[in-house]
Amino acid sequence: MDYENLLVEREGAVAVITLNRPKVLNALSPALIAELTQVLDGFDSEPVVGAAVLTGGPKVFAAGADIADMADRTPVEQVQRDQTGRWSKVTSFTKPLIAAVNGYALGGGCELALMCDLIIAGDSARFGQPEINLGIIPGAGGTQRWPRTAGKYVAMEVNLGGQPIKAQRAYQLGLVNRVVPAEVTVRVAVQLAQRLASKAPLAARLAKEAVNQSLELPLKEGLAAERKNFYFLFATEDQKEGMHAFLEKRPAEFKGR
Ligand code: CAA
Repeated sequence: MDYENLLVEREGAVAVITLNRPKVLNALSPALIAELTQVLDGFDSEPVVGAAVLTGGPKVFAAGADIADMADRTPVEQVQRDQTGRWSKVTSFTKPLIAAVNGYALGGGCELALMCDLIIAGDSARFGQPEINLGIIPGAGGTQRWPRTAGKYVAMEVNLGGQPIKAQRAYQLGLVNRVVPAEVTVRVAVQLAQRLASKAPLAARLAKEAVNQSLELPLKEGLAAERKNFYFLFATEDQKEGMHAFLEKRPAEFKGR
């Protein structure tokens, strides 16, 4: 299927979604976000897809929400169309989602990367929240996910100063998993996604859910939620297969059941 704002491919068990508005540095228009959430929804219910990579391609990830689309909006319009509320659908994707970031990931672009489960950054990557320079603040998680990842002081620097940070610093802060040469960012992300896609799908889903819950729940409740998922997985064929394959010294064949 063709999309106006995305390129969508499959590499085996991995869906590769490329933001594709190069003339405006992949500015995230409502139409783009609508397509993105639709595509993710589709892959979520396709059993052959085990993981996805989200990228902007070799030059830029995304320079933020589309300023031309927002400039003259009224608050009422913003509420009615729930501009950034719709983006949160990205976080309902239940399979591993890897951001492959080259160049600018600014404003909503940075927030979109932070919604993913892992981030592979090219050495050209720049992460930042320049909204302050536009007289606004981030609206898709920038003030919330930065402190949870990089701590309050870095979050303040980024949100109040508006200056992006470079890939290497993002790595030191724990914001990205790996920094690689920009020409191989997407390749590395796809290889990693292939590895994640080969794991037991239900275990991957519940591991992702449990890690995300750790950011929202008190420790006691988080541990209880983890334990419930752990016990539940003993109801799956994949748990039996995984453990017996280990004991029989052979590779496991997971079926997602
Ligand atoms: N929205 C709409 N158009 C954008 C855009 C955006 N976020 N970012 C870049 N563009 C457009 C430019 O207007 C320009 O279009 P024209 O060729 O028609 O003039 C084109 O993309 C290329 O951009 P530049 O000429 O500016 O490229 P540059 O290399 O000189 O600068 C940049 C690159 C530093 C990223 C600069 O484009 C920039 O600062 N962009 C805006 C970044 C920003 O403020 N993002 C936050 C948006 S608000 C937000 O995201 C809110 C939220 O939380 C959801």
